[in-house]
Formats: sequence, C-alpha cells, structure tokens
Amino acid sequence: MDMQEQLRRIQEEASAQLEGIRDKAGLDALRLKMLGKKGELTMLLRSMGQLPAEERPKAGQMINAVRERLTAHMDELDAKIKQLEQEKKLEREAIDVTEPRAHTPIGCPHPISLVQDQLCDVFTGMGFDVVEGPEVEFDLFNFELLNLPKNHPARDAQDTFYIDENIVLRTHTSPVQARTMRSRKPPIRIVCPGRVYRADEVDATHSPVFHQMEGLVIDKDVTMADLKGTLDAFAQNLYGEDVTTRFRPSFFPFTEPSAEVDLTCVNCHGKGCRVCKGTGWIEVLGAGMVNPKVLDMCGIDSKTYSGFAFGVGLERIAMLRYGITDMRLFYEGDVRFLSQFRED
Ligand code: PHE
Repeated sequence: MDMQEQLRRIQEEASAQLEGIRDKAGLDALRLKMLGKKGELTMLLRSMGQLPAEERPKAGQMINAVRERLTAHMDELDAKIKQLEQEKKLEREAIDVTEPRAHTPIGCPHPISLVQDQLCDVFTGMGFDVVEGPEVEFDLFNFELLNLPKNHPARDAQDTFYIDENIVLRTHTSPVQARTMRSRKPPIRIVCPGRVYRADEVDATHSPVFHQMEGLVIDKDVTMADLKGTLDAFAQNLYGEDVTTRFRPSFFPFTEPSAEVDLTCVNCHGKGCRVCKGTGWIEVLGAGMVNPKVLDMCGIDSKTYSGFAFGVGLERIAMLRYGITDMRLFYEGDVRFLSQFRED
C-alpha cells in the first residue's frame, strides 16, 4: 500500500470514528490512536525515511496537512463535548425551588401540657397567678404544715418516695400553697401546676409520677360559695355551659370542711354512660376550706382571713377530654400517640 493510500485510509477511518464520539474519553482514545507516540499518523511520518529523498517533502506536506485537519476536527469536537458536559452538569445541579421539601418532623405539645396550659389560661382569666414549686420537697411543706404530722394515718394515702427523713418527692402540689402562704400576704389567688410522685403500682389509672394543679384563694370573707362558684366557672369554661359541680363530703387534713367534687359527665352530659358508670357524674377534684390550723401554721391569721383550696389531676382531665382510657400512654413517648394532639 503506498503512502498516499495509507494516508487516505487513516483519514477516512479517523473521520468515521469522529462521527461516533460522544465523550472526552472516546476523543482521547482516538487522539492517541492517530497522533500519539505510536499513533498511526505518527508512524506514517516516521516511515518517511524509507521514501526516496525527492518524494519526502511532498509526503511530509501531505501528512502534516492531514494531521492539521484532524487536529482541528478533534479540537472542535473537544469544545463541543466540553460544552455538552457543562450543560449536563448544570442540568443535574439545577435546584427546583418549587419542589416540596423533605419531610422534617416537628414536635407538638404533650397532651398533659395542653391541658395544663388550658387550665392556667382559665384561672389566670379569673385573676389567679401561676406559681411553681420544687418537686423534691421538705416533709415540712409536703406534710407537716398541711396538718399531716409525722405518723398521722392520713399519710398512708400518699405513701411516697423519701430522699431522707425530711425530704420527699412531693406527693401533691399542696406544698406550694404552704410555701406561698408563708411568703405572700393575702389576698392570695394562685394555681400551682406540676409533677407529683406516689408509690403507686402502674396500671391503667395509676402511675408513680403524675400531674396535678392546686388552687388556693385567701382573703377576708372567703366562703364555700366562692369555692363552688369558682369551680363551676372552671368546669363551664372547660366543658361547656351545661356542666356543673356536685360536692360530696370528704376528708383532707388541710381543709375543713372538705369535699370530693364531681362534674357533670362530659361524655353523656349527665344522662349516664359507661364513662360515669351510669351516675351522670365524674369525680375530678378534691377541695375544701383551708383548715384554720393550716392558715395559722403558715403565718396567716385565721381570725381575719379564710380561704379555699382545690386540687385536680391533670391526667384525669386529659383522659376525659381526649377519650383516653389508659394513663400509661401519656408516659410511653410513642409518637403515634403523641402526634394526635397537634393543635395547629
Ligand atoms: N392535695 C390533695 C390530693 O392530692 C388534693 C386537694 C388539694 C384537696 C387541695 C383539697 C384541697 O389528694
């Protein structure tokens, strides 16, 4: 095959291959195959030495012309490939600002917090302050100042966790009333929400940790009628106009007289159902007139002042409100349960 023929074949082959090349790797391979150290065109150039001297200049010119053309084509293709790759890259990296974002889970308040906030709203609306106290409490505030001296049998009902002989995990929110009476002068109007502890076995209606809200009002001439009126307003605010309260005699060492307070069943509105066991009433509060002995022990003159107090379990309110039948659900932290109380 003479050199011209070889050159023509190389050129044809290169042109044909150039057509099919779509990426840089393909182009580099062709460049190497034709123009590399051992490339076909390079070899041809080298083999020129075998030609008669008079033919060499012409052959050199022809080979160089082909090389230049090929190089120009390859450079052109190279630029095209670069542009295409750039376009592809931009397409890949494009940000669609209308695309919905990945789901980011957002928390929501715990049902007990919702109930607590709502009760605080109702009472602050009636002029009460919200006051908090420690969960690790002195026996003095949790029991003694509330007329529950050491070895008093009424302590049994609140069998508890002792840190040492004089320090307990508070068994109710009532110590906050003792603390407040000692630190403030009447008139006093407070509610005290918070966590309390008792040595109870866990079941559907008991937990060693639960939540209460205490209420305390002290002023001149406060009577049981004020207590009844306040709790009626509370119940109606929470559950509707047709709800009222019923007082049954009871005993607490720190109130005298004392009452268990029932509300019209919020499920059947008094007709009688499964929730109220057919009675039309549900028990939700303990309450009473602050025992004068407690007032005096806490530094408030019982001859001038009187007051009432009440305590409500927040779990009970939340269970009634949301139709929850097992208290343990509140503490398990299962998001399938908790996420049902989203209020937005
Ligand atoms: N502290 C009482 C309890 O936990 C509830 C209560 C509070 C009763 C205030 C009367 C007055 O059982």
